[in-house]
This record gives sequence, structure tokens and C-alpha cells, in this order.
Amino acid sequence: MKGLFITFEGPDGAGKTTQVALLAEYLKELGFEYITTREPGGTLIGNQIRQILLEPSYHELKGQTEILLYAASRAQLVHEIILPALEKGKIVLCDRYIDASIAYQAYGLGIDRKIVEEINRFASSNLKPDRTYLLDIKPELGRKRLIERNQKNKKHLDRIEQKDILYHQRVYQGFMDLAKEEPNRIIKINADQPVLQIFEKIKSDFHFFLQSRLMKGELSL
Ligand code: TYD
Repeated sequence: MKGLFITFEGPDGAGKTTQVALLAEYLKELGFEYITTREPGGTLIGNQIRQILLEPSYHELKGQTEILLYAASRAQLVHEIILPALEKGKIVLCDRYIDASIAYQAYGLGIDRKIVEEINRFASSNLKPDRTYLLDIKPELGRKRLIERNQKNKKHLDRIEQKDILYHQRVYQGFMDLAKEEPNRIIKINADQPVLQIFEKIKSDFHFFLQSRLMKGELSL
């Protein structure tokens, strides 16, 4: 039987990675079998693609190339890691997925959404998340957090993070539109609050979601 595919999305600096780790810790306590992964990357091949995508000096990278590289990393991750885990009945927690390509490449770069969707349908063999937690933070605040975090960790902004605020506002709009279109899958959570308060919201939704799936008999974990 199939497991569960849960994704986390949001503007840069929203704090997804922390929430993925908290939910993973919680699943461990409950005794569920799970894996965590991230995009772009999550595989040996995907991590090499990630390096190209995020290298701050690659200003010449074209939009078409960017879409295809995100999709290539995703294709590898879906087929090498995610689908086999789901087939074993595991819960898969993934830091970003196709919604990010709709927000960052279609809305952000202004590339036809239908094309981005079609490429990703192929790349993912049409695998869709069962549930998505969208951490809602205004791009201005996300950026501020990122800069503070990077100063602390002595890191530089990557190629995508370096893009101007107008780009990040379009990305934000993309996420908001997606949440409106698919309210049954995408759960929007205010990320401008303490980490543990955000996690409480995720945890309570996750419980509700798990119960409803178990009751409908759509899941056996
Ligand atoms: P992410 O791993 O979330 O950043 P961080 O290293 O801070 O945790 O994602 C890296 C960047 O890639 C981020 O700016 C969003 C961007 N991205 C896209 O533009 N399209 C995509 O399809 C994905 C998955 C990520």
C-alpha cells in the first residue's frame, strides 16, 4: 500500500527546513517509518544539479535551462527515492516540490505556467503531494531573515536568493494563487510567528489529515 507524500513550500527565509526536521522528529516519536529529503538535490545526481542552479556567479543561466534543471533534479529524486519509499508505505517529507517551480519559474521568471506544469508532469510521472504545508511569509521579511541567518553562518545569498524583491514578490503571489486553487491540499500557515507555534499548527493539521486518510481506508502505514 501507498505511504504519504508531504511537501513543504514557501518563500526563501520562511523556515521550512526547521519545520521538516520537527515533523520528522515527531513521526519518529510516533513510530512511523519516514524519510526526509529536499529539492533541488536529495540524490547524488540531484546534488550536482543543485550546485549549478544555486551557484551565485552563473548569471548567464537561461530560464529554459533553469526549469529543465529543476525538473531533472526532481525526476531523479522521484524515481530514485520518493516512489520506492512510498511503495514501501513510508511517509516522505520533502522540502520543496513542483509548487516551487510554478512559483519561482512560472510566476517569478514569467514563463508560461502550462509549459512548466507539462515538463514537471513528465519529470515526476505525475506524482502529486498528498498534503503541502505552505509557510506564508512576506518576501521582505523572508529576505531579512535570510540575510541575518547567512551572516551568522557566514554564507552568501545563492543565485535565486540574490534576485530582486520584485521577482520574490511575484514568487509570493504564485504561492498565494496555488493555495487558493488547491485549498484541500495546500495548508497555508502564517510563518511570522515562533517556530513552535508554527509547528503546533502543522502537527494538528497532520493529525486531522492522517485520521481522515486512515478512516477512509486510503492508507495503511
Ligand atoms: P531551498 O533548498 O529551499 O533553499 P535553502 O538552501 O535556503 O533551504 O531552495 C533553493 C532555491 O531554489 C530556493 O531559492 C528556491 C529555488 N527553487 C526554484 O526556483 N524552483 C524549484 O522548483 C525549487 C525546488 C527550488
